[in-house]
Amino acid sequence: MANIPSVKLNSGYSFPLIGYGTFGGVDAPQQVYEGTKFALKAGYRHIDTAFVYRTEDAVGKAIKESGIPREDIFITTKLTESFHRPEHVQTALELSLKNLGTDYVDLYLIHWPFATEFRGFDFLDKTTREERQKAHRIDVPIIDTWRAMEKLVEKGLVRSIGVSNFTIPLLEDLLSKATIPPAVNQVELHPYLAQSDLVEYSKEKGIVLTGYAPLGNPGMIGKFGAKIELLSQPLILKLAEKYKKEPGQVLLNFGLNRGYAVIPKSTNKSRIESNLVYFKMDQEDIDAIIDLDKEQTIRAFDPVTILGHEFKLF
Ligand SMILES: NC(=O)c1ccc[n+]([C@@H]2O[C@H](COP(=O)([O-])OP(=O)(O)OC[C@H]3O[C@@H](n4cnc5c(N)ncnc54)[C@H](OP(=O)(O)O)[C@@H]3O)[C@@H](O)[C@H]2O)c1
Repeated sequence: MANIPSVKLNSGYSFPLIGYGTFGGVDAPQQVYEGTKFALKAGYRHIDTAFVYRTEDAVGKAIKESGIPREDIFITTKLTESFHRPEHVQTALELSLKNLGTDYVDLYLIHWPFATEFRGFDFLDKTTREERQKAHRIDVPIIDTWRAMEKLVEKGLVRSIGVSNFTIPLLEDLLSKATIPPAVNQVELHPYLAQSDLVEYSKEKGIVLTGYAPLGNPGMIGKFGAKIELLSQPLILKLAEKYKKEPGQVLLNFGLNRGYAVIPKSTNKSRIESNLVYFKMDQEDIDAIIDLDKEQTIRAFDPVTILGHEFKLF
């Protein structure tokens, strides 16, 4: 079994620092089913999905067929923006549980820090992406949604709760009001978006970060935001040579060595395997990589392009 580090969340649960990402395109469910099945066989024990990815069923099927005990697998899924009203939160989670074929999730995240109008729990079947992008923003305070998330923990439906795409001011506000502090904040993190302030702040507050698009989302380059070319970046290539690793492994271990989780997505068996590797990097190399984002800061996932909603993430 791969030697993958874990950290203890503020909820007391263990969190494997390499997870398998499952956001994809039109062929996603079949690819995700096969990919997740292979990833579990290769040793991954942390799977990241979301209601809106429409890959929860595929993940659930792969987990069931793996024969691995449920308690040995850490499942993260996410609450969609149109289900932020407190009265919708439990039903939304129950739909995810049904899709996943489980009676609890390890981690439930508020996917984006703003709410949009409710269009029914079956809105994904009834609307196009363009129609969804036109959904109106509504005013549901984050704390109201969070209180409903806290109830899910009390009911044993969710083990840990957290957020995604949250900035320091949003976390500050949530921490000042929450009864249960967020265990995790999942945000875009890679050399061109190193977010050192957020990494420092999260350490101080005991919130574990998960870095999404840790490879810069090369498969969909520029589709949801700016183009990011990290796998051929000269410093990354130089460090790959120094450590005798692949560029992708350097990018992932940049995150692991900074103490946060990474959730690379791949549909390719050899890359699924090679992404599950941890090695120690020298601090001076980590610092040199962090310096890359002083030259340019690039975001692969821009909420205006993905969701059609203005939201200041910097
Ligand atoms: N919370 C949020 O708002 C949010 C937003 C975006 C993503 N996420 C989560 O984060 C996960 C990862 O992000 P992502 O999928 O956007 O980006 P990513 O993991 O940075 O990149 C995935 C792409 O990289 C390729 N790849 C994987 N391993 C590689 C390697 N070792 N060398 C070269 N190429 C490699 C994959 O192609 P192949 O399949 O051909 O290997 C795939 O096209 C998602 O799947 C999702 O679970 C969350």
